[in-house]
Amino acid sequence: MKRLAVFASGRGSNFQAILDHVRLRVLENVTVSLLISNDATAPVLTLAKKNSISSIHIPGIQNRKFNNKQEREEARNQFDAQSTTTLKGHGIDMVALAGFMQVLGKPVLQDYKYRIMNIHPALDLTRFGGRGMYGDRVHDAVLQAGETKSGCTVHYVDESIDGGPIILQTFVPIEPHDTPHTLAHRVLIQEHRIYSKVIQLHTDERIQIHDGKVTIDWSNDWEAKWRERESAFIRHQEMLIEQPATPPQ
Ligand code: GRF
Repeated sequence: MKRLAVFASGRGSNFQAILDHVRLRVLENVTVSLLISNDATAPVLTLAKKNSISSIHIPGIQNRKFNNKQEREEARNQFDAQSTTTLKGHGIDMVALAGFMQVLGKPVLQDYKYRIMNIHPALDLTRFGGRGMYGDRVHDAVLQAGETKSGCTVHYVDESIDGGPIILQTFVPIEPHDTPHTLAHRVLIQEHRIYSKVIQLHTDERIQIHDGKVTIDWSNDWEAKWRERESAFIRHQEMLIEQPATPPQ
């Protein structure tokens, strides 16, 4: 059984989708052991409680004011040191960043090299990733650029921002009247599927990296078997889309 920790700073829909994949037995040999948030007010912390997942708030640089750059960097370093200790304390094998709004420093990255993944809601991470590219800004930039397709990307995390080796992507066509909001919605549906698929590939040791490039071993019908199991999650997802969480007033 591989022990997964999720780092998140916000609403946590990707975190919830991973938990649903485990609950529905789509994800195999994975247990979500820990949620770390750098924001005490993040709704994802409530989701963790509801799902009985151990969670911890480690103060980072999110939603905090600092007197100067040095104080800010000290807070970042403290976050990195404390999260490394926490990950080791919980015997964590791999980490999924899911809407985590802070760049991780060397201590965590070195200890968990090619064991930390991130999801980004775009395809071209050089143009639509990096500093300042988050939330609707990403989709806005994609639409402004006149792209015909967008999507989502799962990649290993290295010291760059959104720049590590790409593992898998899903394409989402752009429709004529798309707004950042409608595009974000369709991309998010795909995010919720692809992240667990990559976590399974990683758990099954199907991902290899040579010279910074990923190759995936799809042998023995891996994908067909995944698709068969994943249909349970897709049915669940379709039900959620048909019955939105907040009923109309
Ligand atoms: C997702 O779009 C993800 O790609 C990005 O931040 C968003 C997080 O959403 N990194 P959620 O908190 O998982 O709902």
